[in-house]
Amino acid sequence: MCGIVGAIADRDVVPVLIEGLKRLEYRGYDSSGIAVLEQGAQPDIRRVRRTGRVSEMASAADAEGFNSVLGIGHTRWATHGGVTEANAHPHISAGVALVHNGIIENHEEQREKLRALGYVFESQTDTEVIAHLMHHHLKGGDSLLSALQRTVKELTGAYALAVMSRAEPDHFVCARMGCPLLVGLGDGENFVASDVSAIISSTRRVIFLEEGDTADVRRDGVQVYDAHDQPIDRGVHLSDVSLASLELGPYRHFMQKEVHEQPRALGDTIEAAIDAGGFPAELFGRNAEAVLSGITGVQILACGTSYYAGMTARYWIESIAGLPCNVEIASEYRYRAAYADPKHLVVTLSQSGETLDTMEALKYAKSLGHLHTLSICNVPESAIPRASELVCYTRAGAEIGVASTKAFTTQLAALFQLTVVLGKLHGRVDATREADYLEQLRFLPGSVQHALNMEPQIAAWAERFARKSSALFLGRGLHYPIALEGALKLKEITYIHAEAYPAGELKHGPLALVDEDMPVVVIAPNDSLLEKVKSNMQEVRARGGELFVFADQDSNFVESEGVHVIRTPRHAGVLSPIVHTIPVQLLAYHTALARGTDVDKPRNLAKSVTVE
Ligand code: M6R
Repeated sequence: MCGIVGAIADRDVVPVLIEGLKRLEYRGYDSSGIAVLEQGAQPDIRRVRRTGRVSEMASAADAEGFNSVLGIGHTRWATHGGVTEANAHPHISAGVALVHNGIIENHEEQREKLRALGYVFESQTDTEVIAHLMHHHLKGGDSLLSALQRTVKELTGAYALAVMSRAEPDHFVCARMGCPLLVGLGDGENFVASDVSAIISSTRRVIFLEEGDTADVRRDGVQVYDAHDQPIDRGVHLSDVSLASLELGPYRHFMQKEVHEQPRALGDTIEAAIDAGGFPAELFGRNAEAVLSGITGVQILACGTSYYAGMTARYWIESIAGLPCNVEIASEYRYRAAYADPKHLVVTLSQSGETLDTMEALKYAKSLGHLHTLSICNVPESAIPRASELVCYTRAGAEIGVASTKAFTTQLAALFQLTVVLGKLHGRVDATREADYLEQLRFLPGSVQHALNMEPQIAAWAERFARKSSALFLGRGLHYPIALEGALKLKEITYIHAEAYPAGELKHGPLALVDEDMPVVVIAPNDSLLEKVKSNMQEVRARGGELFVFADQDSNFVESEGVHVIRTPRHAGVLSPIVHTIPVQLLAYHTALARGTDVDKPRNLAKSVTVE
């Protein structure tokens, strides 16, 4: 959840560090800092740290005239210790500076040991023990690299680390276990970063470090070592992340940009099926046909918005492919004695590919005996797809706003394709139905664009929502998970308390909450459950509740007192949940604008949740 960047060059690296931290700010934004090597006859380390946004720390670095050819930086999402300057990284122990992403589980034990050796702690962080351990080993005669290799073996937990020392001004070192870290290769300059966006202005050539790796980063070369400290060649990848995808362009917020990118993102995610003229199993990898035809059920594991994508997929997989499908929140699954059928395919869903709970749930599923795994993920080369047998990358492009939007709808598009592939392989989808599903998919980007065109009407509703303190979201069937997603978006970025229910459940309790102050958002597509939903709406109206209804253009809804209706495009059939996601995203976005909250960086949250 924190972001790391480091650089060694023949030029001033401070602008590289600051730009990198700004790009990594989505990973954590409560405090930040950099440490650089001050040149001169006796090099020393200078550090600047600030709570608040990177821009505040950058101004301080500028005012203090920071300038160096070697430095490391960090943007923090607090876990151990509050949001204070003392807890911000880099942490220093007598000439050694380091930045850390992750959590050290045995920090208390290490702290006691180090205190007994005379070390004094200035922060409440788990990270500071690593700095002192490094110093302890350096004092014992280790080089910076061997001190790091010795230190990481004494740690339990997760870490990505970058460390520099005033005693070795020609390089810095780094290590990775459980948190992402890559090395960037430039010409006569090299870098380290949590993700490629941080260094994309300097290089696209990257080495992805593996679990347990350490690396020695010098101006003229990089050497990677495996978990046994043996030199290893991890190969060089050329990143295809585009700079435009990391910049706001004409938009006010990344969330707004990402919501509007959905027709393109969906078009890219379905492109291979459209080009193939159908749904070949190879959409999910070379060996997919053999794996997918042998399974007898599906177990989906995910968190947050990705979990809601999984909930939607369950309706598709059971009704279209005729296979049993269970969906579970990863953080719950990983701690229960779950029933595991080796013939059930484990599908993990993750935008980032590095959510710790999802990763651990995947490992746990394997340990329970699941034989086959598939990852649907938006970030190439991230940890979860790398630990999976089959992989499908959604092509949403970089998603920077903390609120997930285009990653969700593209996950749904990928899950729908998986459903049809399974339906074909298990004899439930014939050529005619396959062609029909392809046709529906072909229309999807257009329908989504049409839904985006409803923005002015939704923005007008948002003005009224902004004054509320709670909201209810209702949906049924395939659209119940979309109601959940709408409620999550609203609470995440507007801080309005919101809950979602299957509309039929209202009378079993939540109806007690309804009065004239409670806005009730209803997702009411023109499907077989519409009449049921209308009855549920009457239950709300009869108690004075105000209804805000997202209906389809082809349904016969009438506005009346207390019943406001916005019509999204013609009913999109089985793909309707994807189209109906757009209005709930826009409602949350415009309500956040009206309330003046920080849309892209809502309080207390971070984009990638790499801690428990
Ligand atoms: O990267 P992942 O999809 O694994 O992330 C899972 C959740 O943390 C994520 O969807 C979260 O709920 C979003 N902030 C929702 O907008």
